Amino acid sequence: MTRVLVSAELESFLVHATVPGDITVDLLDPADPIPEGGPHAGILPLLTRRIGAAEMDRLPELRVIANMAVGHDNIDLEAARARGIRVTNTPDVLTEATAELTWALILATARRVGEGERLVRARRWTGWSPTQLLGTGLGGRTLGLLGAGRIGREVGRRAGAFGMRVAYWGRSRRLEFEAECGARWVPDAAALASAADVLSIHLASTAGTRGMVDGALLDRLRPGAILVNTARGDIVDEAALVERLRAGRLRAGLDVYAREPAVPEGVLGLDNVVVLPHLGSATEEARQGMFDLAWENLVRVVTGGEPVTAVV
Ligand code: DGY
Repeated sequence: MTRVLVSAELESFLVHATVPGDITVDLLDPADPIPEGGPHAGILPLLTRRIGAAEMDRLPELRVIANMAVGHDNIDLEAARARGIRVTNTPDVLTEATAELTWALILATARRVGEGERLVRARRWTGWSPTQLLGTGLGGRTLGLLGAGRIGREVGRRAGAFGMRVAYWGRSRRLEFEAECGARWVPDAAALASAADVLSIHLASTAGTRGMVDGALLDRLRPGAILVNTARGDIVDEAALVERLRAGRLRAGLDVYAREPAVPEGVLGLDNVVVLPHLGSATEEARQGMFDLAWENLVRVVTGGEPVTAVV
């Protein structure tokens, strides 16, 4: 009998999953540590659980960490590699959902949707006014994609619908993407920030990208530009961003934060920021797809097969 650990928050997905007869699932409460000396060959965690070397060493039989997320910055990949533990993620199934939420943030920030909603809910709206809550139109403006992986490209594909031009920077040029939506590649992040009216982050959090959107990069953005982050909070120097938001130089649409669920000090008092609670992949379809893929990866590895979407 093979035992595996699955995050207890996934119980409602698990009841519909096909569990092979020789696999027993133990639920792991999000507040509990990984059991010391557990007999588990696989674990299916959420992105909120950090799994480093110490956590891996608690499970001597561990063969796979099937993360239910496309990001895997919660897992120490080197430690996994050193121990011969496979790590998998859930790409593709959440691409569309995250791209849609990115557009929700772009639109909400440009058109001051949060402020409008708060006005109505507070019963402070006194009627239509020609100068009330004026925002910025998107037509003819430039969307800068910082990172042109699956999600970045999916965001770029929708830009034409709003009459926006697309510029992008990424490690590799994407010629097909360029042809598909007229996207212009720029040689570095600084050039991208200088060109963008909306700068949208679509990078993984790695040693090379953490803190990359710092004060100097933010200062390249033109006054009134919009920064959108649906990737990972720690890519942005949050203190530098808050400083510029406070000064009214920039606007921002944020779905992710460096120390979730904490939101950077000072942000909640600002009207030029739209804040969401890490909802990028939060559609029924995407979350089901993420669970199904993570589960398949887990089952494949513990039964001696190859995962579908391996990271390590
Ligand atoms: C991911 O999969 O990494 C996303 O952040 C989840 O919403």
